[in-house]
Amino acid sequence: MSGTQGVDTTTIVIFGITGDLSARKLLPALFNLACRGRLPSSTRVVGFARRDRSIEEVREVLRDGVVSIGGMDGHQDEWDEFAQRITYISGDLTKTDDYRTLDAHLKVFEGSGTSGRVYYLSVAPNLYERCVNELGAAGMSEETGGNWRRVVIEKPFGHDGVSADVLDHAVQGVFDEQQVYRIDHYVGKETVQNLLYFRFLNSIFEPVWNRNYVESVQISALESVGVEGRVDFYDQTGVVRDMFQNHLLQVLAMVAMEPPISMEADALRNEKVKVLQAVRNPDTEHAVRAQYEGYTALPGVAPGSTTPTYAAMTLRIDNWRWQGVPFFLRSGKALSAKSTDVVIQFREPPHLLMRADQDAESAVVEPNRLALRLQPDEGMHLRFMTKVPGGGTATRPVDMQFHYDDTFEGEAIPDAYIQLLDDVLRGDASLFTRSDNIHAAWAVVDPLLEYWESEDAPPPALYRVGSHGPAESDAMLAREGRRWLPG
Ligand code: BG6
Repeated sequence: MSGTQGVDTTTIVIFGITGDLSARKLLPALFNLACRGRLPSSTRVVGFARRDRSIEEVREVLRDGVVSIGGMDGHQDEWDEFAQRITYISGDLTKTDDYRTLDAHLKVFEGSGTSGRVYYLSVAPNLYERCVNELGAAGMSEETGGNWRRVVIEKPFGHDGVSADVLDHAVQGVFDEQQVYRIDHYVGKETVQNLLYFRFLNSIFEPVWNRNYVESVQISALESVGVEGRVDFYDQTGVVRDMFQNHLLQVLAMVAMEPPISMEADALRNEKVKVLQAVRNPDTEHAVRAQYEGYTALPGVAPGSTTPTYAAMTLRIDNWRWQGVPFFLRSGKALSAKSTDVVIQFREPPHLLMRADQDAESAVVEPNRLALRLQPDEGMHLRFMTKVPGGGTATRPVDMQFHYDDTFEGEAIPDAYIQLLDDVLRGDASLFTRSDNIHAAWAVVDPLLEYWESEDAPPPALYRVGSHGPAESDAMLAREGRRWLPG
């Protein structure tokens, strides 16, 4: 593994630097690393995009992005120095000559020393294959003489299993797997990484983390934003490809995987793949797709579009640890509030000693529940029963709580891209998705997508903007005597 320090110069080439992701996430993350001394002065950023812009215009837009997320506070002077490290080449991603121009530009900075390059594909997914092939044709993927070359590919990786395999074939024809970083920013979130620390650094939870004690698991990623401004992408994609195939299944894998033998990239990724391969295809009877009212009236949405903006599904994992434990997943846009939660619902005690003594009113017994709030107001709640003080036998569920804000006072939770870009520069792929993992995740959702996109499927249910989602999703759980639990 050779990182930023292992070469004389490092360049982060951002394809599509004029897009939203660069201004809102990538540049703020790189600037944050620079301010913390994690980007040596021999590191620079080269933007490549079609738009004809002056370097001043590009820097200005990127600066606005950093300001908009509060990243400039107290760091004005550092920005002036950092901005000088950004250059811009206007070029066409489909033209071989433009890659050669880019390569020549990079070589001027690199001189005769050793160099590292990160090629970050922040472009429309239908351009990934072309871009990778052109990098190959221009000889820009070769690692010789102590140089390293890495490619970062944003999600969605493919449109289904078949197209993902085609893309992967192209990628692997140009880069070795160890050069490829398929990014899923959920995995870079502190609270998602903490799932592994929480599970494997505490001995009290792991013994109950299985079918003997866990009754069900819920994973929810609810969003209040709609799809305005991204209609072109979203109407072709929908919530299952946008959130389930990647983010939610990654979270599920981290909740459900077996302990890895180490924290090395492949050890972790082996366990994730194993558990994803054990996920049974969701049953169409236990899945719901829905669209928010008014979606089809948005400019750019295809007439009569059935693209779901909300989905819920029941997954079952066919292995020893999780046999018989349903995993309920849901995600949607234009809902009442944003929240991402994992809720572990434990079983009732095998014999309820107290219940018989109690009068009806105080006889409430709630099984234990561990709610992991991934965002916002990050933290966790452990719910357990307690006796209400006084002479009677009344009981009540209470919460034991941990909140990042209270415990790590004054320490903001860093954005996921900071950690992920740092990892790419250091050559640590643990938090990135391996090829077989992408394949296993598509295999979970492909049959459901195929059904929903067939003529046999009923149209998506509807839900109101600002609501908590479609009634059909509540009904899906109610049929099994359950309900969606608060995080
Ligand atoms: C992106 C999806 O990957 O994740 C978006 O494309 C979604 O549709 C976003 O809004 C959610 O990310 P976060 O970090 O805000 O939960």
